[in-house]
Amino acid sequence: MDEILNYSLADFQYNDNPDVLEPPEDFEAWLQNPRINYCFSFFEQQLLCMPRTTTEIKSNLDQQKRKMINLTSYNYLGLSSHPEVIQAAHEALDKYGTGASGAPLLSGTFDLHIKLAKKLAEFKEQEDCLLFSNGLAGNMGAIQGILRKGDFFILDEKCHKSLVDGGTLSGAKMLFFQHNDMDSLAQMLEKSKGKRTLVAVEGVYSMDGDLVKLPEVLELCHQYQAAIYIDEAHSTLMFGPNGKGVAEHFGLEDKMGVSFGTFSKSFGVVGGFVCSNARLIRYMKCYSSPFHFSCAPSPVMVGALLKSLEVATRDSSLRDKLWENTAYLKKNLLDLKLDLGKTESQVIPIIIGSSGEKLFQMATEIQKRGLFLQPVDFPAVPAHSRRFRISVSSQLTKEEMDKACNIIEDVIVKGLK
Ligand SMILES: Cc1ncc(COP(=O)(O)O)c(C=O)c1O
Repeated sequence: MDEILNYSLADFQYNDNPDVLEPPEDFEAWLQNPRINYCFSFFEQQLLCMPRTTTEIKSNLDQQKRKMINLTSYNYLGLSSHPEVIQAAHEALDKYGTGASGAPLLSGTFDLHIKLAKKLAEFKEQEDCLLFSNGLAGNMGAIQGILRKGDFFILDEKCHKSLVDGGTLSGAKMLFFQHNDMDSLAQMLEKSKGKRTLVAVEGVYSMDGDLVKLPEVLELCHQYQAAIYIDEAHSTLMFGPNGKGVAEHFGLEDKMGVSFGTFSKSFGVVGGFVCSNARLIRYMKCYSSPFHFSCAPSPVMVGALLKSLEVATRDSSLRDKLWENTAYLKKNLLDLKLDLGKTESQVIPIIIGSSGEKLFQMATEIQKRGLFLQPVDFPAVPAHSRRFRISVSSQLTKEEMDKACNIIEDVIVKGLK
């Protein structure tokens, strides 16, 4: 029976069950194992109010409702619960109703969509922008809209699944380079020499919080005449003097071939957007399935997004506070001698090591103490670097961060000794 614990989600994707409506036979047995079942109970815990820095959660572990300090939310700038954003959503709801009720090219485009796309294109220093109802679909749809069979798609090995799935859909040949390793990227570019090639990177890598080495990547792209696609899901509205993202942080905001962002993180809403030159956007409108064949984003969301963009860019106060909080938390965690990997952003991993057992024991204790900090297990991260992953928010108070660090010290630091 204990052998079952050696398996992970990496082992059950292949399904040879003769009944196509049934999962692999050993998957259910694995899930029902009490220890695996326990690990899964950390998923889908119910938030009972807004994802603020102190929020109420009904725990799957003991069914108790608890007020918890929230270090797991993507609400980096607190915009999902910002009064002006909520007011804007109410106003859009009253004027336009709940849904767009049509694909963008037919009947789903409202004046709000046009306004948002124009503002985002300007913000990203690109000519035009496509809006998607979902971030993952935006990445998939953009890659599938741009690349064709015979093209090359070169990705950093730590790129998000949405980019990989977009590559699969497109039929392009996919090559992966070692994370942020320029020699490895150059090797892949050699293989695609003379072919249409797109290189995908992320501004902030979502599991480690480190930044892309953008100037070096760009130089190689120029050398090999490859185009660059940057996913700024975890950096838009936060990095750069004007919050434009990691490209602006490096002074390269006008050098990106395609710039992608999600609305589900710093914007505090949901959806995705892709900015590029006007000709490519016109082409993608016709060949990117999640745009062409799917309902436009709800006007309620678009109304909220216009306000999120305005609030986050009218001054630097939210991102200044985010970086102040990030520095404060990082210093306290480093004082505790924790391994934070190579983080350079508001995404801070606390690397525990290879023991899944230890990770989940700590996760249980942390939750019971009132801290919402989720464990990240293999295969989401390598088996030797299981971790907790902190998402810092500009809204965290010093008191909340101190309390969180006390819990981390009591549980993680002691647990690692
Ligand atoms: C780097 C990156 N790109 C794209 C996405 C997909 O965005 P969404 O969750 O808004 O669908 C995510 C989601 O976590 C992400 O981390």
